[in-house]
Amino acid sequence: MTLQEEIARRKTFGIIAHPDAGKTTLTEKLLLFGGAIQTAGAVKSNKIKKHTTSDFMEIERQRGISVATSVMGFEYKGAKINLLDTPGHEDFAEDTYRTLTAVDSVIMLIDCAKGVEPQTRKLLEVCRMRNTPVIVFINKLDREGKNPFDLLDEIEKELRIDLRPFSWPISMGKSFKGVYNLYEKSLTIFNSGEKQTEENSVEIKDLNDGTIDKLIGEDFAITLRSDVELIEAGYPKFDKEEYLEAMVSPVFFGSAVNNFGVKELLDAFIEIAPSPRGRTTNLREVLPTDKNFSGFIFKIHANLDPKHRDRIAFLRIVSGKFERNKNYFHVRENRNLKFSNPTAFMAQEKSVVDEAFPGDIIGLYDSNIFKIGDTLTEGEKMNFKGIPQFSPELFKYVVNTDPLKTKQLNKGLEQLTDEGVAQLFTKRTDNRKVLGTVGALQFEVIQHRLKSEYSASSSYEHINLYKACWISCKDKRKLEEFIHDKLHHIANDKEGRPVFLAESAWALQMAQEKNPDIKFHFISEFKDE
Ligand code: G4P
Repeated sequence: MTLQEEIARRKTFGIIAHPDAGKTTLTEKLLLFGGAIQTAGAVKSNKIKKHTTSDFMEIERQRGISVATSVMGFEYKGAKINLLDTPGHEDFAEDTYRTLTAVDSVIMLIDCAKGVEPQTRKLLEVCRMRNTPVIVFINKLDREGKNPFDLLDEIEKELRIDLRPFSWPISMGKSFKGVYNLYEKSLTIFNSGEKQTEENSVEIKDLNDGTIDKLIGEDFAITLRSDVELIEAGYPKFDKEEYLEAMVSPVFFGSAVNNFGVKELLDAFIEIAPSPRGRTTNLREVLPTDKNFSGFIFKIHANLDPKHRDRIAFLRIVSGKFERNKNYFHVRENRNLKFSNPTAFMAQEKSVVDEAFPGDIIGLYDSNIFKIGDTLTEGEKMNFKGIPQFSPELFKYVVNTDPLKTKQLNKGLEQLTDEGVAQLFTKRTDNRKVLGTVGALQFEVIQHRLKSEYSASSSYEHINLYKACWISCKDKRKLEEFIHDKLHHIANDKEGRPVFLAESAWALQMAQEKNPDIKFHFISEFKDE
């Protein structure tokens, strides 16, 4: 196969959902279709239940699962599909944001009874930042839920997206009859408890055809006809280009647990979802078809075995062909590296690969040479953009409780924050270390891992902080003046860049108003001015 053909058959995507909407269930059904797993229950939920947040076993269990499910590759009808796992727990939101930098499209899952939920909203915001095309799957139609028209209105309004229904449900809950495919003009009947097969689909050329009344009953047939009339009048026709530009989202209805509507979703997905796209660097746009290999690290995962402190760095290939044992250029470190055991992920199996193509994710064994956002090339000194850190919201001072282990503590903090578990700031006045996270759970994860992997003891102390934001100014002298004025509220990030620590929303607002020349940034990636 040529490089072009390899690229064209790849689809790299993620499923975004609020916890409990059915992500694990849908993932499993997709893998079953791809023949990647044989039995139900093979995909473990990576959910962290609220009450187990202090349970370290739970954290370890979660870490184990999230290695296994980071990337699930499978083949389906000639397509190579890479499904990237996005942690649902909000404390791992930053991990999810970064994973979304490595996908080309997403499927957004909505529970038909709950509608738009907080995590859905946040995750969609991230997709919007990157113009990622979205397909919507409305799940759990076998349960009573909201009226489908109201649901679509709610999604359009709350998420500010334009929807294009592809399929339409006939009733729901106990009286759920199935879905009508508006594009293929076919009806798929729902038989609760039975294995759903393609044979359940009946082509309906004309909605006024009487067979439909026989199949679902006269009353439901009348409702379906009037619903379809309303949809055709109310929603413009689906335009693939608009979807690819992230302007509209097709919508499907189904029930993941009953494997209903999943095949329809997958078939449409391979038909319309984008193949690997290019990415922007500080120098130029990189296209997947560029001859030379390039890629970026979007996730780093520590080895579960504390005796081996190596990690797996997940690389998304952007262009060219990746080959095992070939020299590649690590731009930040300015040196060549060779990988003898690059790993590919097929379903939950890992295997060493000799080559990989744009859209693929490979795992590289890493002895602390990678940071999130690092670029690998065939020699070109460019850096991929768009893998930022977000300004954290929760902060604590880290206190060393075993002075004999200071080195270990510092090393542990350095490495764990390289992995992106949290961000580390060092105050300029007293060199105290401040950890910033987006979720409370990360503090426990760090403390636990410092102890178990680095034998370092630590405790936390409260720090009164509202936000940490990066600061810059065209006039270097003015920036220095501001830093001097606010020295007690200035820290360095890991790269030594100045960060303003605001104690309250008010303090931040005052600082912004009084210093109009200083720019306050809420993501780490900004034009250096
Ligand atoms: P998540 O990964 O998004 O958090 O969700 P997950 O798949 O774990 O699903 C959450 C719950 O919703 C599970 O039930 C699952 O069985 C159920 N579910 C998923 N799809 C459907 C559907 O189409 N219809 C109905 N009625 N339920 C669905 P649970 O009771 O929490 O777990 P389990 O004991 O069933 O595994």
